[in-house]
Amino acid sequence: MRTRTHIIQFLINTFNYKSYLEIGVRKPSRNYNIIKVDKKYGVDPSPVHGYENDFKMTSDDFFKQNKMKFDLIFIDGDHRMIQTDKDIINSLDCITEHGTIVLHDCNPIEEKHQIEEFTPKLVWNGSVWKSIAKLRCNRKDLDIVVINRDHGVGIIRKGNQELFTDYKTIDEVITFPFLDANREKLLNLITPEEFTKKICEVCNCTHDRDVNASKNILTEGLRLLSAGTAEYTDGDDVRPSNRLLSVKSEAHPISSAVGG
Ligand SMILES: C[S@@+](CC[C@H](N)C(=O)[O-])C[C@H]1O[C@@H](n2cnc3c(N)ncnc32)[C@H](O)[C@@H]1O
Repeated sequence: MRTRTHIIQFLINTFNYKSYLEIGVRKPSRNYNIIKVDKKYGVDPSPVHGYENDFKMTSDDFFKQNKMKFDLIFIDGDHRMIQTDKDIINSLDCITEHGTIVLHDCNPIEEKHQIEEFTPKLVWNGSVWKSIAKLRCNRKDLDIVVINRDHGVGIIRKGNQELFTDYKTIDEVITFPFLDANREKLLNLITPEEFTKKICEVCNCTHDRDVNASKNILTEGLRLLSAGTAEYTDGDDVRPSNRLLSVKSEAHPISSAVGG
């Protein structure tokens, strides 16, 4: 699982989720269009292209009028802490009992990546990580991890967690030097393999390695196809359009793997 898209699709497949909400869609070909799920909704005040189930408004306006529940909510809109805090609280109110909130850009590597103002042509993660850090310090009723891929993919589920307690004040916690010194424990940073294991414990299932590898390759192929040859720099990794994918020998594509 290399990207947010793989991780989201893994959760949808594993928990048999039926409904998906994406806050902040931008170019739907990057992620939204690739996600396979029964019901899909997107919220964005200024999307780059139109997309189905279009809520052309801010997340605040969306949540004010929303009466639906969602199995998975992907928060990737306004990347400032103050807005991410609100998006998380509002999302917790409208995820289903066993639902999951996913957040992008939770693990900025350099201080300049986590400034609040969007800077074109620079990796920009915003201050989403600060929202995660605060919840790691004060919400015992949530189960929070950050998967160490694709700029940090945050996962929030209702449950329980061992809080991060090794700090004096929250103001100190949400400084970049503190993050840098305490990254692993503060964010509860884990590998994709550790995440898969953790989720298997929750759903009490085992995941076939070949089937998962096939699904991931299919998802990546669809992503590349629908993205065309466009290159992008908006807070994501940049890859040349003629890049060849390497396929591991244990991953045999199977046609029945689609959306399974
Ligand atoms: C980083 S892009 C989303 C990328 C996309 N989710 C992906 O995975 O490729 C952020 C998007 O959030 C939108 N946005 C900004 N403020 C927002 C808000 N308050 N509510 C919802 N979307 C917002 C922007 O218009 C922009 O299109």
